[in-house]
Amino acid sequence: MITCDKLSRKFEDASGELWAVRDVSLTVPDGTFLSVVGRSGSGKSTLLKMLGGLLSPTEGVVRIGETSLYEMKEDERADYRCHTIGFIFQDYFLEELYTVYQNLEIVMMIAKVPDAERKERIERALTQVGMLHKKDSKVKVLSGGEKQRVCIARAIVNEPQVLFADEPCGNLDYENGQTIMRLLREQCEQGKTVILITHNREDAMATDRIVTLQDGRIESDEDQRHS
Ligand SMILES: Nc1ncnc2c1ncn2[C@@H]1O[C@H](COP(=O)(O)OP(=O)(O)O)[C@@H](O)[C@H]1O
Ligand SMILES: [Mg+2]
Repeated sequence: MITCDKLSRKFEDASGELWAVRDVSLTVPDGTFLSVVGRSGSGKSTLLKMLGGLLSPTEGVVRIGETSLYEMKEDERADYRCHTIGFIFQDYFLEELYTVYQNLEIVMMIAKVPDAERKERIERALTQVGMLHKKDSKVKVLSGGEKQRVCIARAIVNEPQVLFADEPCGNLDYENGQTIMRLLREQCEQGKTVILITHNREDAMATDRIVTLQDGRIESDEDQRHS
């Protein structure tokens, strides 16, 4: 379960201060597929980064299970994150000159997974996203849809409880976008919590719950399963 309570984030610059996220409280049970929607600039990415341990809130608390993310020291949080949380971004952030296999191995090294366990787990993750046949290809030769499948494999290879995806289909055509949505749904069915930012109404409708942000606040929170 992920919870946040009165989560807020302020940014300050020369022109003044701006509350990107304001008083957001959420409880997300395990195995939920939740989407976050809202206009550009409504605070979606800021919220996701705070929920995922990447950005300290100005006010409020984030918990994953019993663990309060920002009560930990920064290095503890980094360690916790690489075992508990997987991230998928619109722009992939893969090492283009490395192979698919090496890209997954990097995050296992960071998580200090013993050498002997890596191969089997990498192959299992790549099998889940249908990319095992490309494991020795350099990332730079892959299509966008293939790169995003590798990103999902990288996000799940350390077997996290939670996946965060910030517009993962944003650069993809319809068909590849649908593949990514199906893979995220499968991860949910295996018990992971998936939180997805999307601009696409159809993708949001395919999730269990839609949280709409406006000017950093929750405008609506709709349960899709009972409607
Ligand atoms: N690092 C930052 N410094 C200053 N302002 C920021 C920063 N990150 C985001 N913002 C501002 O916070 C608001 C919300 O941004 P963001 O969370 O990226 O929105 P969204 O993902 O919904 O488009 C925007 O007005 C944006 O300009
Ligand atoms: Mg964003």
